[in-house]
Amino acid sequence: MTQLAVQLNRLHLANPILVASGTFGYAREMAAYVDFSRLGGIIPKTITAQPRRGNPPPRTVETASGLLNSIGLDNDGIDYFIETHIPYLTSLRTAVIANIAGRNVDEFVRMAEQLNNVEGISGLELNISCPNVSGGVDFGTNPEMAADVVSSVRGACDFPVIAKLTPNVTSIVTIAQAAADAGADAVSLVNTFLGMAIDWRRRRPILGNKLGGLSGPAIKPLALRCVYQVAQSVDVPIIGVGGIGTIDDVMEFLVAGASAVQIGTANFYNPSVSERLVDELSGTLSEMKVHSVDEIVNAIH
Ligand code: SIN
Repeated sequence: MTQLAVQLNRLHLANPILVASGTFGYAREMAAYVDFSRLGGIIPKTITAQPRRGNPPPRTVETASGLLNSIGLDNDGIDYFIETHIPYLTSLRTAVIANIAGRNVDEFVRMAEQLNNVEGISGLELNISCPNVSGGVDFGTNPEMAADVVSSVRGACDFPVIAKLTPNVTSIVTIAQAAADAGADAVSLVNTFLGMAIDWRRRRPILGNKLGGLSGPAIKPLALRCVYQVAQSVDVPIIGVGGIGTIDDVMEFLVAGASAVQIGTANFYNPSVSERLVDELSGTLSEMKVHSVDEIVNAIH
């Protein structure tokens, strides 16, 4: 029997397959497609201190093997999340990792304190990497700011803290090191790559916000490179995310150094893929006669 459970510092997951924030709604939307109790965990859409309307439409464009989005953190705010979504999410018999974004350290800390009083949340993912809002990536592109927000949130709550990092930096290793030194239990690598789409006939950007974040299979080699580089030089558990949709993708991220993975854009074109990948991971590791996920994490030569 292969042991699928993984431990990322203080975060325990029944298996390493998570679903990524922003691609799974608040889970209700996916109930017809996925047995949530089979997943390692669910990361709902980012919440903010106040409700946000998000960016002007169009907010998504399909590209070659990818998806550009400029949602702009559209959400109903933390109070609504706690009242309306938390009771459902925490009834699902899987880990729930809340994803929060603040405009400053104080907002991150106040949200962490508020969630700390809520039963049933397994961890906090800090979205310091959204490319679609003003200031959204500031914390994720500056090592001192990344360290400040991670250590402040860590001091304000009892949750395992995960920093979700942007790839839109010169050295993701430097940012990951800062987050690790500040006490992050894990880093999620990576959020979307800044891009754009143009309607050349109308001579206009297609997205209402002009620029957006690229996700999906198109970014997989780039995300894999980020995971590999960080795993080679920073001692922090990594959650790989970026274009993962098949069992080979999962295995590549684990071997490159990720202890767990998030399934993101693939949920849009195959809503039940996350559950299938749990089965396939178990089968693949058994065939390899690998007894635990840990045995293949960072097993690259
Ligand atoms: C968005 O809401 O704009 C996407 C979320 C993100 O990229 O972090």
